[in-house]
Amino acid sequence: MKRIGVLTSGGDSPGMNPAIRSVVRKAIYHNLEVYGVFGGYAGLISGNIKKLELGSVGDIIHRGGTMLQSARCPEFKTPEGQQKGIDQLKAHGIEGLVVIGGDGSYRGAKALTEQGFPCVGVPGTIDNDIPGTEITIGFDTALNTVIDALDKIRDTATSHERTFVIEVMGRNAGDIALWSGLAGGAETILIPEVDYNMEDIADRLQKGHERGKKHSIIVVAEGVCSGVDFAKQLSEATNFDTRVSVLGHMQRGGSPTAADRVLASRLGARAVELLIDGKGGRAVGLEKNSLVDYDIIEALDRKHKLDLDLYTLSQELSI
Ligand code: F6P
Repeated sequence: MKRIGVLTSGGDSPGMNPAIRSVVRKAIYHNLEVYGVFGGYAGLISGNIKKLELGSVGDIIHRGGTMLQSARCPEFKTPEGQQKGIDQLKAHGIEGLVVIGGDGSYRGAKALTEQGFPCVGVPGTIDNDIPGTEITIGFDTALNTVIDALDKIRDTATSHERTFVIEVMGRNAGDIALWSGLAGGAETILIPEVDYNMEDIADRLQKGHERGKKHSIIVVAEGVCSGVDFAKQLSEATNFDTRVSVLGHMQRGGSPTAADRVLASRLGARAVELLIDGKGGRAVGLEKNSLVDYDIIEALDRKHKLDLDLYTLSQELSI
């Protein structure tokens, strides 16, 4: 392999930049040429592809977002769109592609691999919902963003003796809600993986209030329902003074944490090693702090598992 490409796709995540840097520098270190595909799969289809040098990835390790830009691209879900992408890669003499992204990006990489073009997937999403890795690039930074917001909301919640419902991202996964709720000492955490009972929640909050708690924080994963809808249900079940805060896309921004930079550097470099070894069609991940890789075609059939022990612990600690 002499020339590889790299792209970021889907929702961006803090740590994509250090991952791109790692891919580019590792490849050049091993005498490969690297081309950046700008604008995700949409940029691949339109041929927005440029050569990257060592300096192209200077001064990005600490920046959020992705220097390659990203996009959601419905056209790439079609065989015609995928063929256009392959034609562009071939026209640029690119022999292997590193795809940094989440679930949808992996599906695109899987489609290219099935059509004979070697791709390696690198898990970049704040949602932490990619099978085959215990942690995704961007999750740690997003958690820190959420607990920073949560700590601040707790201050005002205490001053006014209010209940706050905080809606966090995660699409269909509850990891952001669970980990941030545990780290932020939330009284209640609602995640799509576990059903909730409004009477139990109201009862817990009431007991806390009677014991002198001056605030209650409820973290709701967007995959359960909107924070506004939940607050309405809560207001019907209790008479607490309730406010809602939807954290939204701020969770996707910001300078990546040290943990995300290290993870991104390790996974990006491993993806390049796999391509050098002629092992396309893989996805990389971290398990028990060791780098792993697995078949990208099988990857999406596996299911990401949320750590239910953490949920139990959060219940025990928030009595
Ligand atoms: O997958 C990352 C994510 O931020 C999800 O948590 C969220 O549901 C979705 O992307 C939002 O997507 P968009 O930026 O396209 O609105």
